[in-house]
Amino acid sequence: MLLKFNKILLVTILFFGTLTRGYNFWFEDSQPCFPKNFHWGVACSRFQDEGEIGCPNSNWTYWQKKVNLQKSGSSCGWRDTYKEDIQLLKELGCNSIRFSIEWSEIEKTPGVFDQDEIQHYKDVCIELVKHGIKPMLTLHHFTQPQWFSEIGGFEKKENIDLFLRYSKKMFSELSDVVKLWCTINEPTVYVLCGYLMGKFPPGKILAYALGVDVLKNLFIAHNEIYKSLKNMPNGLSCEIGLVHQYLKFDPYRNYNPIDLVTCKFFNSIMYDLPNEFLLENKVVSYSDITVKKTKLELRESKIADFIGLNYYSRVLVNSFYSKDGSFVRESDVKTDMPYCIYGEGIYHAIKDLSLIGLPIYITENGIADKLDINRDRFIREYLGYVNKAIREGIDVRGFYYWSFKDNYEWDSGFNMKFGLYEVNFETKSRSLRAGSKAYQEIITQWKNEILEK
Ligand code: BGC
Repeated sequence: MLLKFNKILLVTILFFGTLTRGYNFWFEDSQPCFPKNFHWGVACSRFQDEGEIGCPNSNWTYWQKKVNLQKSGSSCGWRDTYKEDIQLLKELGCNSIRFSIEWSEIEKTPGVFDQDEIQHYKDVCIELVKHGIKPMLTLHHFTQPQWFSEIGGFEKKENIDLFLRYSKKMFSELSDVVKLWCTINEPTVYVLCGYLMGKFPPGKILAYALGVDVLKNLFIAHNEIYKSLKNMPNGLSCEIGLVHQYLKFDPYRNYNPIDLVTCKFFNSIMYDLPNEFLLENKVVSYSDITVKKTKLELRESKIADFIGLNYYSRVLVNSFYSKDGSFVRESDVKTDMPYCIYGEGIYHAIKDLSLIGLPIYITENGIADKLDINRDRFIREYLGYVNKAIREGIDVRGFYYWSFKDNYEWDSGFNMKFGLYEVNFETKSRSLRAGSKAYQEIITQWKNEILEK
């Protein structure tokens, strides 16, 4: 009887211990210490916010039709509502926003730049700055003009010049106002989803050799853009970085050879090759891997002004058993995506990337949580770990929650609700989710501390 009681007591303590740890992590570790000039932002991308109606020339508009995905329509909109949305950013307390330029709208036909469209970006950025909100612009966020894909996109090294031409044009038009630039969003995910898993265009499955070469070209493209933009007027006053999704595949069972081999396969693209580039300035082509040729050294100097870290969770590969195709353990708290809440992971990712020796912006982190039961906990836990890294002296300069509003989640369509703001896609109305208030509170707390200092 006593034994049974003790067992119940122990389980209760462990259960509530885990619960409070999740919720109270933020307060456990004494006071938060985000720097005075910290960027508190939200992140989004143009195609995900504007859909096929706003981006008719995008390769994703063609892809959606081809594979019969849920239509993106006009998604949550941003082009016509940005002034109202800026009020929402102020309501949250944000001083920055990350969003992307849709290349396919700027350059509908090769070599012809649409000045009205460029003017639209200028108007948005000027309005943001007027309200004390710094824009961070991404030049390539998964989508590209259909014409660029049709001539081989990043599969061909010679096409990099076309991306460079567009990037230089945008920088020359906007760098007076925009001081934070991201070249490419998540090169590894672009390859993983487009060349290994077939979920993104061009929809290739296990095209490993081609995928490695595309990754190489994306790194070279980043390198070319960084070098060129730094040499342009305003180059030195702007911070230009690469956005990397830190995703490591770990075996569910260390002794399962299939899990181990699968992890090795995916990590070679998601972890090893980006590390060679980020830490050693080296890019590797498929033939280099196979015939062990010397790797191409890009240059001696630094690869960027900052590293943008996108972090969501870990991936546990379980080749034998997974109830619903997800990458979690039974005991994990699941998100609506096939992964769990794993706050500790962002701390390790920051530590790992800090070895590059560049400042870090967390350019994306957030949770898909339709019922809004875990968003509060997620925000406090992940930000608690970001805070821990800052406390240990790592130069983390900003945090951008993904995403500002519910939007089009690529191959998952509108099923994933990442937004701080819930969107009614019929009326386009937005309402702040209860769980999102944690983000608002943390920003307010930071503001109050700064005022006191
Ligand atoms: C991408 C976003 C995406 C988010 C959530 C990131 O990999 O940059 O476009 O919506 O993850 O899945």
